Parts: sequence; structure tokens; C-alpha cells
Amino acid sequence: MAEIGKDIFKAKAILEQGDLVGIPTETVYGLAGNALNPDAVAKIFEVKNRPNFDPLIIHTSSMERVLEFTVQIPDILVPLGEKFWPGPLTMLLPKKSIVPDLVTSGLDTVAVRVPSHPLTRELLSILDFPLAAPSANPFGYISPTQASHVNDQLGEKIPYILDGGLCEVGLESTIVGLENGEVFIYRLGGLDVKDIEGIVGKVKIMTHSSSNPKSPGMLKSHYSPKKTFVLGDLELLVEEYLSKGIPFGVLSFSDEFKNVPQSLQIQLSQNRDVKEAAKKLFASMRALDTMDVSVILSELLPELGLGRAINDRLRRAAVMND
Ligand code: TXA
Ligand code: MG
Repeated sequence: MAEIGKDIFKAKAILEQGDLVGIPTETVYGLAGNALNPDAVAKIFEVKNRPNFDPLIIHTSSMERVLEFTVQIPDILVPLGEKFWPGPLTMLLPKKSIVPDLVTSGLDTVAVRVPSHPLTRELLSILDFPLAAPSANPFGYISPTQASHVNDQLGEKIPYILDGGLCEVGLESTIVGLENGEVFIYRLGGLDVKDIEGIVGKVKIMTHSSSNPKSPGMLKSHYSPKKTFVLGDLELLVEEYLSKGIPFGVLSFSDEFKNVPQSLQIQLSQNRDVKEAAKKLFASMRALDTMDVSVILSELLPELGLGRAINDRLRRAAVMND
């Protein structure tokens, strides 16, 4: 086995003291603390400015270790864990009392996942506790997909960020759970719904739940840039904003607009590949958010594969500015 890096030991030491570390995962960067230490968990809520009613995901190194935190993985969900862990899957499971109530916001379920990023896997394998980790952004803002995003916003509030490069998937994990024997998706994410259905059959998708205690974090407006974010037919929107004389940036799937300066537009994927688009989405939204424009114009992608989860994020980004 390759030698474990100094950076991982540094992260371990900080976490063991009850402090927080920014960690890379294949989905987005997390703001991690010892999930079994209520003081560390309280720091997570504080640093993120996150309301206590929005519970956290627990990260651990294997499916066997998931059983330390849950009474049981229901039979129908077991094959999902076997297929997608380590990877961008989170399961809502009945909680054991070892998990502090603060982690689950008092709910009787706990969200658990086994991330696949090699650095974080190594870190988890040498820790004797799991990590609670929400996305490492201030509450409501766009999730970070590289270490510099975390540093820009939380760098002064946390002692260390473990740099694991660009996140491979770029969208948060897909959250699944079971209700009355049926599999539900509570957050569209890094897994294609079709791949999940290939294993457990038809699932129900219930992601608009601002008033639903089952997934309290799925507030309708989320992932929001600071700029006004407008979704629609880009050809028409570009014409409209040019004629209004309002400075704008463009986030398109693949089209380039000749009448807009190149520096003010980003194409998510020249080849119209939704996986590539997912990987670039949040970094592109952040980049446009820092440009000297007052509006970001964008468009929905085809509702295929990860396109569905991308569109979910785009709609939530736009909702505040309706
Ligand atoms: O990909 C991811 O899942 C990333 C990386 C860092 O692992 N984490 C992440 O965490 O996206 P966060 O906190 O930003 O989003 C977690 C979501 C929230 O919407 C929260 O409400 C929901 O999971 N959640 C957590 N525990 C829950 C529970 N017991 N019941 C229902 N929803 C839960
Ligand atoms: Mg988040």
C-alpha cells in the first residue's frame, strides 16, 4: 500500500481535536467534523451558518461501518449500497443512539454515505470515528468543487483544507430512502435515476419539499449565486438583455453567442456531454457570479441522465430571482 501522506495525518490530528477540516469527495467538498462529537458538529452548523433543523450526512469508509450507525439497512436498499458505494449515494436509515441528535436534527433517521475520493477514503480508514460533512459552502450558496472554492469562503474559519483537486462528479450525492416499502429519491444527484431503477425498480422522486420534514434541506431556493439568475431560451434572453443594455453573462450547455464577449460566457460541454457539464456546473456558476455583470442568463439541459440533477440545481438557483 502506498504511504499515507502528511496532509492526511494533519487532517486526522485536527479532526481528533474536535476541529473542522475541508475534505474532498467525488461529489463536492465537505466541511467535516467528528460526527460523534456534539461540539465538533455544533461548529459545523456555526461555520456554515446553517440552521439546526437541517441535518447532516455521516461519511464512513465501508458498508460494514455503516452498520455502526444504523439499526439496519432494509433488504431492498442493500444492493444499492453494494453497487454504488463507495460513490455518490446517500441512504436515509433508522438511526442508532450513538449518533448525536444534533447530526440528525432530532430525526429518527440518519443520512449515511461512503465517499469514493481516494484521499478522503484514506482519511476515513485511519480515523476511529465517522465524519459529519455538509457541502463546504455558506448555507444557501453554490457547493464547492475545488479546494480554492472552500478557501475563498471558509478559509478563515477553519484550520485546514485537504486539497484533493477537482471533484470528479461535481454534483452532490443522490439521497434515497424507504417509505412504506417504496424507494424514494429525496435529492437528485450524482447517480443517474435509471441506474438506481435498474436495481430496485421504479422509484418515487420527491425533491420539492421545503415544508417536508423528510428532507428539510431541500429548500426550494438553494445553490444560489448572488447575481440574478435567469433561465429560459438563451437566444431570446440574449437579444432581450442586449436591447435592455443590462450587463449579463451566459451559462450555456454548448452554444456560443457571437454578439456576447467570450470572456462573459461559459459553455458547460462542447460535446453536449451531461457528465462533463455536471463536473463544470458549480465552478462555472461561481465564475460568472464574480464577473462584472448584474445578471446570469442560462438554460435547462436535456432531462437525461445527470441532466435531471443539473436542471434541479439550475431551477433552485433561479427561483430566488423569479
Ligand atoms: O455529496 C454530498 O452529499 C455532499 C458531500 C460533502 O458528501 N454533502 C452534502 O451535504 O451535500 P449537505 O449537508 O449539503 O446536504 C445534505 C442533505 C440536506 O438536504 C439534508 O437536509 C439532507 O441531506 N439530510 C441529511 N440528513 C437527513 C435526514 N436524516 N433526513 C432527511 N434528510 C436529510
Ligand atoms: Mg449543501
